[in-house]
Amino acid sequence: MIKEPADRFDGLRAFVTGGGSGIGQDTAVTLARLGAYVTVAGRTQRSLDETLEAIRATGGQGQTVICDVSDENSIARASAAAGGEDGQLDIAVNSAGVSGGDTLQPLADYDTAQFDRIIAVDLRGSFLSMKYELALMAPRGSGAIVNVGSGTSLVGVPGFAGYVAAKHGLAGLTKTAALDYGAMGIRVNTVAAGLVETPLVATGRSPEVMAARIAQHPIGRIGQPQEIADAIVWLCSARSSFVTGAVIPVDGGYTAH
Ligand SMILES: NC(=O)c1ccc[n+]([C@@H]2O[C@H](COP(=O)([O-])OP(=O)(O)OC[C@H]3O[C@@H](n4cnc5c(N)ncnc54)[C@H](O)[C@@H]3O)[C@@H](O)[C@H]2O)c1
Repeated sequence: MIKEPADRFDGLRAFVTGGGSGIGQDTAVTLARLGAYVTVAGRTQRSLDETLEAIRATGGQGQTVICDVSDENSIARASAAAGGEDGQLDIAVNSAGVSGGDTLQPLADYDTAQFDRIIAVDLRGSFLSMKYELALMAPRGSGAIVNVGSGTSLVGVPGFAGYVAAKHGLAGLTKTAALDYGAMGIRVNTVAAGLVETPLVATGRSPEVMAARIAQHPIGRIGQPQEIADAIVWLCSARSSFVTGAVIPVDGGYTAH
């Protein structure tokens, strides 16, 4: 039985957006537990403090930075903080995201403001994050970026235009960045997560809606954030050294249909 998803990351600097909760939080804590110095970025200080406390409880080290990934100046500042004085960024995990909610609308009825809101964070925010992360990694000729995509990076969902478009776009950005930077020693991948028990899906859902969504996962249950974090951490590590430009389902079989 493998106990750790990766070798240790001692001496490496990591940056995790959306690190105040859910998948980003478990990823930040796992990277720190394995030795990385982790800069945790998110919108509210309270949630960031919670993650930093969990990092320190495992003996890890890190810092927090308030950041809105949809704001270019904000992500530029946050990634610069992650790089520190020497501009060293080895690992970046882009987990910040908003969901499409539960209101399903066929495209002609889909709310344009809702579409713009999701694209601004989940797609444009990921583009901006990668832009500033890659600018730090490129001069050093090494690095690993993992984006948090979704089953909707690979398949459509009726009534879910904004989220599906954003997460498909994220897969495209991942492949393009992998092609742009592969020869420079930087790997870029996306984890396509299935339904995971986090604040993103926990609020405002009836038990019936949740049961129907879980039933779409052949494994017969909702995933836990640590199960996604372990795959992300593997993709950050040298154990995945031949993997780049990949969109990898970690989804309890959701996309196997
Ligand atoms: N939970 C699921 O079922 C599921 C499934 C597939 C993909 N995902 C993806 O996983 C990622 C993490 O989501 P999660 O499930 O851990 O939920 P979450 O809500 O716990 O995490 C998302 C985090 O992103 C932060 N965030 C939102 N907008 C932001 C912004 N503009 N700038 C900076 N931070 C922002 C939130 O504050 C939150 O901490 C998201 O990209 C989501 O789309 C989640």
